[in-house]
Amino acid sequence: MKVEKWVVREHVEGVPDVGRVYEKVVEEVDVRLRDHEMLLRTLYVSVDPYLQGIALDTPVGNHMGADSVMEVVEAGPRAPHRVGDLVQGFGGWRSHLVSDGAAELWQTGTFPMVFPDYRRLDPAWYDETLPLSTALGVLGGPGMTAWGIMNRFMTVSPGQTMVVSGASGSVGSLVGQLAKRAGARVVGTTSSPEKTDYLRELGFDEVVHYSQGDDAESVRAALAAAAPDGVDRYVDCLGGNVTDAVFDQLNVYSQVAVCWQWAAQIANEHVGPRLLPYIMFPRTTIRGIFSLEWFTDENWAALHEELGGLVRRGEITYHQTVRHGFDEIPAAYRSLYVDRDVNRGKVLVEL
Ligand SMILES: NC(=O)c1ccc[n+]([C@@H]2O[C@H](COP(=O)([O-])OP(=O)(O)OC[C@H]3O[C@@H](n4cnc5c(N)ncnc54)[C@H](OP(=O)(O)O)[C@@H]3O)[C@@H](O)[C@H]2O)c1
Repeated sequence: MKVEKWVVREHVEGVPDVGRVYEKVVEEVDVRLRDHEMLLRTLYVSVDPYLQGIALDTPVGNHMGADSVMEVVEAGPRAPHRVGDLVQGFGGWRSHLVSDGAAELWQTGTFPMVFPDYRRLDPAWYDETLPLSTALGVLGGPGMTAWGIMNRFMTVSPGQTMVVSGASGSVGSLVGQLAKRAGARVVGTTSSPEKTDYLRELGFDEVVHYSQGDDAESVRAALAAAAPDGVDRYVDCLGGNVTDAVFDQLNVYSQVAVCWQWAAQIANEHVGPRLLPYIMFPRTTIRGIFSLEWFTDENWAALHEELGGLVRRGEITYHQTVRHGFDEIPAAYRSLYVDRDVNRGKVLVEL
């Protein structure tokens, strides 16, 4: 059978130059399954900013890894899922794959990540309000990240101020709405004027314009104006100057969730103010976020019940930007970094 995949051709630092990094390969594969293996067909592929690091860690010539939703087309007698099952896992940018669906160790430069066993998706969970594609969004990794920050780390009380950087993305847009429901005053950042309206529609009280590399003083002034009572909760999906500006506006017993550091991880900026003195008097708690730790059966059930329930009752809104076709995957991924204007919420590709 014909199998299409995107392979990594070159390791390129910084904003992904997808034309150099990826090459499409079409292979004729004679599929012979072992007892525990499955042939899977990919239905949806996720594109996420963290794939920049995954691509750098992928040996040249190997397929690009990524979260995906797949259907089991054939299954060996001892395979973990049956023909027709829908599963979510780290299937990658491939049209089809043979896998045993077992957890996969991804040895990164810093520390090992383990992508869990393929998770069976119950078709009963999905409908018009929450279609299958949300297994990669509000009912998938980004949803779990937002839910986990709010339920496994942060406490948010009425009247507190939460700042969310990168707020228009899939994680930030959900966290901001959850904090708003908890009674917080929510301030989001976006670099796009069009997305300012979007964040206001979601209920954000204030929106600060920020683009990576913006002047620190003007960012600080804009934040101080948007959060005149200081910052109680900060969900950091960007890093850089916006984060530096938040740190000297933190209130007593503030909490900071570190999701991503664009400036350090993409722009290679490793010098900034020393932030630890800013957390001493406010007694701030800073926690790195590693959402894979929350991928447990118990948490998935709670995510469907709680976040899914909020969506079904119309209390939380989610958005997806769905592109179509296998050839679109690198362009969809590029759009997370460049020409982001059309994106709202989770970006994914339907094959
Ligand atoms: N640690 C974890 O476990 C974990 C889990 C999930 C996600 N993450 C990370 O958390 C971050 C948010 O995730 P996500 O899924 O919400 O990503 P996303 O949908 O791509 O959203 C990120 C947002 O960042 C903004 N942005 C991108 N480049 C920017 C730049 N150069 N300057 C200023 N703003 C920029 C964009 O907003 P505008 O277009 O409005 O500017 C975008 O909406 C990602 O970096 C992701 O890798 C971490």
